[in-house]
Amino acid sequence: MWPSHGSNPHYLYEAAGLSLPESFLDFSANINPLGPPAVLQERWGDLFYGIGTYPDPHTASLKEKIAKREGIQESQILIGNGGAEIISLIGRLIAGKKVMIIEPAFSEYEKACRINNCDVSYYQLSDGWDIHLDDVIEKLSGKDAVFLCNPNNPTGMYYKTRIMLPLLEACKRENCLLIVDEAFYDFVAEYESLIPYLKEFPQLILMRSMTKIFAIPGLRLGYLIADGGLIEKLTDCQPHWSVNSVAIKAGEWCIEDERHISRTIQFIHSEREALYQFYKENNFEVSNSAINFYLLRDKESHDQYPLFEFLLKQGIVPRHTFNFPGLEGRWLRFAIRTSVENVRLMEVMKAWRKLNP
Ligand SMILES: Cc1ncc(COP(=O)(O)O)c(C=O)c1O
Repeated sequence: MWPSHGSNPHYLYEAAGLSLPESFLDFSANINPLGPPAVLQERWGDLFYGIGTYPDPHTASLKEKIAKREGIQESQILIGNGGAEIISLIGRLIAGKKVMIIEPAFSEYEKACRINNCDVSYYQLSDGWDIHLDDVIEKLSGKDAVFLCNPNNPTGMYYKTRIMLPLLEACKRENCLLIVDEAFYDFVAEYESLIPYLKEFPQLILMRSMTKIFAIPGLRLGYLIADGGLIEKLTDCQPHWSVNSVAIKAGEWCIEDERHISRTIQFIHSEREALYQFYKENNFEVSNSAINFYLLRDKESHDQYPLFEFLLKQGIVPRHTFNFPGLEGRWLRFAIRTSVENVRLMEVMKAWRKLNP
């Protein structure tokens, strides 16, 4: 009944049996509130000339830029039509295998596994969402692959190297792929790259999306970093010309705009501080997010549905959590948006608190 992803709020209103208000603020999609880098608008006209020829099927120019930025070989990179395509390519790579998904997580991993007849099991992070290494490592036994969303969607929590390294070591012992979805890594102020460990741990696969940080969900662009042998296998599964020439060129411009990323990190940090202070003062519980979205629940209320409905009626669109195993609607997810929009959200939350002290 509920839409499986954020954005396109008319589907959410329809599912909730409400009519879409004339104006609304969509907090359900986790896109950079500062928008795309300015260069995209400034040079948009230049992209027109790219559409008259087939794109480079090897996406060499963008790979070169990413390789330089990350200090890796181009042969360790695959460019995809969004992170979503990359997840579906991985699904084909691990078809029929024993796969564990650390939940809650982005729902597309499970979908890709099911379509490819994987034997799927779950490790459920409980409230607080810390990773208890001994527990997870014990469950790894006999698995061929494990998915971890880090930073995590939907909680926004980020697991640093002191957690990731023992996990990697355990995956190496089990000969199990560790597939880490880093779609939101650019938003983390204290990000610790796993790229230096790629050589020692060829089981490591890093998935990234350019959608979120560069606010380009309509263009469809993401990439994967892994051992060269894995990249070859994944590339064989990818349709020719999968990434269009507009996205390739735009991606080249975006990836060079480090200033846009640092400005975003600073902005998100200060907005999150203000929001979290407000929530604390008004008795809302939030997840310990390191990025541009967070989970929230009203501590005063067992059932979050009345709050969800109240917000929708006020034109505030949260992301429901009915399809996140382990959350099942007990939390709501919000993106951090512009200051004006975050202030509006706090006003509406304040109104809710007044009615529900
Ligand atoms: C954790 C995670 N990974 C991957 C994706 C897919 O991103 P893209 O828009 O690049 O396909 C999303 C999109 O919401 C996501 O939340």
